[in-house]
Amino acid sequence: MYEKKIKYFDVNVDSRWSAMPYGREEMIKLDRLFGHLGSLKGQKLLEPGCGTGRLTEILADHVGADGLVVALDISPKMAEAALARTGMSPNVKLYTAALEDFPVDNYMFDNIICHQVFPHFEDKQKALSLLYKCLKKGGRIAVFHFINISQINDIHRKAGTAVEQDSMPEESEMRKLFAGTGLDIKFILNDDLGYFLSAEKI
Ligand SMILES: C[S@@+](CC[C@H](N)C(=O)[O-])C[C@H]1O[C@@H](n2cnc3c(N)ncnc32)[C@H](O)[C@@H]1O
Repeated sequence: MYEKKIKYFDVNVDSRWSAMPYGREEMIKLDRLFGHLGSLKGQKLLEPGCGTGRLTEILADHVGADGLVVALDISPKMAEAALARTGMSPNVKLYTAALEDFPVDNYMFDNIICHQVFPHFEDKQKALSLLYKCLKKGGRIAVFHFINISQINDIHRKAGTAVEQDSMPEESEMRKLFAGTGLDIKFILNDDLGYFLSAEKI
């Protein structure tokens, strides 16, 4: 199902957009995410689509030694790069897997961070029900991007066949996807700082 995409992301492991450490602009955008999440100390986080682990290492710092970041990626090359970046951090567990195949029953997470990956889930409804399953009651899901919907969809359209269909749903579509999942959308921001949806498990 993901063969083409795996190849695409494997080939792009050293691309600027996947490997460049975050600069000042990205850190400012991340402030909005972390400002909303509050203290993550000691928490268990899930990060599907971790890429080369740029956010993973920041999340690991936030949860500290008593927390855990479970990060996964369908691309073996990306997961390998994330492992190299996060070293042997005992508070990070890395898996090469699609979210859709990941045994979510093994964990209960405080927060789930879908950073620049949501459009790539082939079956978004299935992805949401899996995320719901492994989220604690009152836990939150963040769908977060450094760019807004029209920029996301434009980039994917121009990137080529493997991801050209991977669009971020517009707000009404997103609300339909979440309706009935047990994940209550608290807000959707789509502006100059990017895209940020926060939902809570009820
Ligand atoms: C645009 S990159 C973002 C990577 C990272 N989150 C970042 O912002 O640097 C999307 C990543 O999601 C991964 N991915 C795509 N579909 C996935 C899926 N169904 N399950 C897990 N990872 C997936 C890709 O391999 C790729 O590394």
